[in-house]
Amino acid sequence: MRRKVEKTRLVLVHGFPLDSSMWAAQKKHFGKKFKVFCPDLPGFGRSEKRAPKTMEGFARGVKAYFAEEKIDRAIIAGFSMGGYVVQAFYEMFPKNVEGLILVDTRTAADSAEGKAGRDKAIRSLDEEGVAFFADTMPRRLLSETGNREDKLVKEVRKIIMKQKSESVKNALIAMRDRKDRSALLPRVDVPTLLVCGEEDSFTPSEEMIEMANLVKGCSFSMIKRAGHLSNMENPADFNLALEDFLNGSERRKNE
Ligand code: MLT
Repeated sequence: MRRKVEKTRLVLVHGFPLDSSMWAAQKKHFGKKFKVFCPDLPGFGRSEKRAPKTMEGFARGVKAYFAEEKIDRAIIAGFSMGGYVVQAFYEMFPKNVEGLILVDTRTAADSAEGKAGRDKAIRSLDEEGVAFFADTMPRRLLSETGNREDKLVKEVRKIIMKQKSESVKNALIAMRDRKDRSALLPRVDVPTLLVCGEEDSFTPSEEMIEMANLVKGCSFSMIKRAGHLSNMENPADFNLALEDFLNGSERRKNE
C-alpha cells in the first residue's frame, strides 16, 4: 500500500518594512503543490499584535503562528529581516524546521556604523513617519532597473505605507540590537538554500556565498536581473530556484 505523503509546508517570512503581501507571486505559484503560509510578523500587515523589540520576540511570534495554523514542521524561508527572524527561529525551535531558505540576508550583526544608521532612521521615522521609508527604501530594495519600473516601485511604496510607525520603530531596534548568528551556520543540519539577487548591494552575493560555504551541503542560487528584493523583482527565476529545492525535499520524503 502506498504511504500517504503530506504536502510540504512552506512558511515565507517577510522583510522590513514590508508584510506578507511581498510574497504574492510565490503564494500563487506554489499554492497548488505545497501548503504555503505567509505570516504577517507581529505588528506588521494585518497583525494586531504589538511588534517586539528583539529578533527572538519576532521568532516567538512565528512560533505562535505555527501553533495557530497547526504547523508542526515546515520549510521556512526568510527575506532579509525575515532571514534574521528565521535564524533566531531555527536556533530556538529547531524541531519545527524541516529546511531553511535564507533570501538576501546576512548572519552578521550590525556594525557600529550600521547601528548609528538605525538610530538615524528612528529619528527620521519620528519626524516624517513611514513615508520616509516609502521614499527612501525602494532605492535600497530594488536594482537600478527595478527602480525605473514604476509599477514595482509603487507596489513596494504601497506596502511600506500600510505599516504602523510603532512597529517599524520596534523592528529597527530589534535589527540594531540583534546578535551575530554566524556561528549558527556550521551547526545547521537541515537542507538549506541561500538565494541572492545578483544586483543586491545591501546583502551582496559575495557575502551570501561565504555564508553558503559554511553550511554543510548548502545550495546557492543567484537571481539575475534582481537587487535586494529578488522575489518581487524577478519572480520567475526566484520561483524556479525555490522549486528545485522544494522538489528535492519532496523526493527525499517519498524515498
Ligand atoms: C530588510 O530588507 O528586511 C531590511 O532592510 C534588513 C535590514 O535593514 O537589515
